[in-house]
Amino acid sequence: MQTSNHSNFDTRNAFDGSESIESASISSSRSDLRNRLGVALFGFGRAGRIHYSNVIRSRHVELLWIVDEDVEKAEDALVADRVTTAKVVLPLRVSEVLNDSCVDFVIIATPTPTHEVIVRGALKADKGVFCEKPVAMTLHDTAAVYEEADHVGRPLYSAFQRRFDPNVRSLRDRVRGGDIGTLHVIKSCSRDSPLPSIQFLMTSGGIFHDCAVHDIDIVCWIVGEAPLTAYATAHSFIPSIGEINDVDTVAIVLKFPSGAIATVDLSRHACYGYDQRLEVFGDQGMLVSENRAPTTLRQATSRGVFTDPIDYSFPDRYSEAYRFELDHFIEVVKGTAEMEITSYDALLANRVADACEKSYKTGQVVSVNIDLKN
Ligand SMILES: NC(=O)c1ccc[n+]([C@@H]2O[C@H](COP(=O)([O-])OP(=O)(O)OC[C@H]3O[C@@H](n4cnc5c(N)ncnc54)[C@H](O)[C@@H]3O)[C@@H](O)[C@H]2O)c1
Repeated sequence: MQTSNHSNFDTRNAFDGSESIESASISSSRSDLRNRLGVALFGFGRAGRIHYSNVIRSRHVELLWIVDEDVEKAEDALVADRVTTAKVVLPLRVSEVLNDSCVDFVIIATPTPTHEVIVRGALKADKGVFCEKPVAMTLHDTAAVYEEADHVGRPLYSAFQRRFDPNVRSLRDRVRGGDIGTLHVIKSCSRDSPLPSIQFLMTSGGIFHDCAVHDIDIVCWIVGEAPLTAYATAHSFIPSIGEINDVDTVAIVLKFPSGAIATVDLSRHACYGYDQRLEVFGDQGMLVSENRAPTTLRQATSRGVFTDPIDYSFPDRYSEAYRFELDHFIEVVKGTAEMEITSYDALLANRVADACEKSYKTGQVVSVNIDLKN
């Protein structure tokens, strides 16, 4: 088996076109796959494995490539799952993957700082792009990659999977349908489990862009507006997180033009599991999306009433959401659905996360200037 010794590989080198291309022979041997969309998966870590499982179980797509620095890890999974259609390659061989005409779209689940270069390479090769959030590190670069996607006419999806969670979606539909009257307050609580590795945190882009963006996207989607102002305060209780200049605990307040107020309460680590709750309060009632547990059993004893611990982490809590977002993107690539998460949504979440980070650093309330196209 091939193993990797390219841990310091700079993805930019792979897009300079200098590598030899074997696409003709690859595509001709795959003509039987044309009734399914061909997929290349970049990154086979925590998020990549979730997308891998959904891709190999889908009737609509065929996994053709996995690109990762650890080839053996991905090859072992293919053998265990009896997937014979896919090859695993190092990032150095990316142009072979992108020049494969059987690849209709790529899924990017690599470390955040590598996203933009892979997105650009895939768009240039005329592929659809499903990218883990964020699609780029800055607002400017996010706008630029969406412009590139528009220019080449290929879909670019930013993976805010929570929108596809059945609870969250139903809550939003009811709020927007008027079930709780005029929306006054929305509270989003997101506490991670387990604590991510320090290696991951060092390249995550920081808690505002790595975690808060999900909550920001959800509250803006539910309210249906962009906030006017943002205020955030934060702290690092975990010394190793403070040492990398990040924080592990955040409280955010957003004020919307309608008067609605959102609070976001984040932690990098909850010892009792993956805590993800939403509450929306209006003049006609309240809606709550609770945590989930593997079972709904309740055990009553002389010491109290007990239930299972809540879901341990994101792969369990959002299992349907990850599946449904992939199904949605497949429809978009086929041309049978409009993309639900637009460039406006990705830019808005990025803009608000920037404002929150600035507020935390300055101690001031920050205006969220929205001059984005809706
Ligand atoms: N939407 C969500 O719920 C969610 C959850 C977790 C992570 N994420 C996002 O997914 C991305 C990956 O996070 P993760 O936790 O899976 O990280 P991870 O460290 O577990 O996995 C990253 C993988 O990418 C590989 N890799 C590194 N550079 C590469 C390159 N240039 N080309 C191909 N493969 C490369 C690594 O070998 C590793 O296997 C991040 O952007 C993160 O923000 C999203």
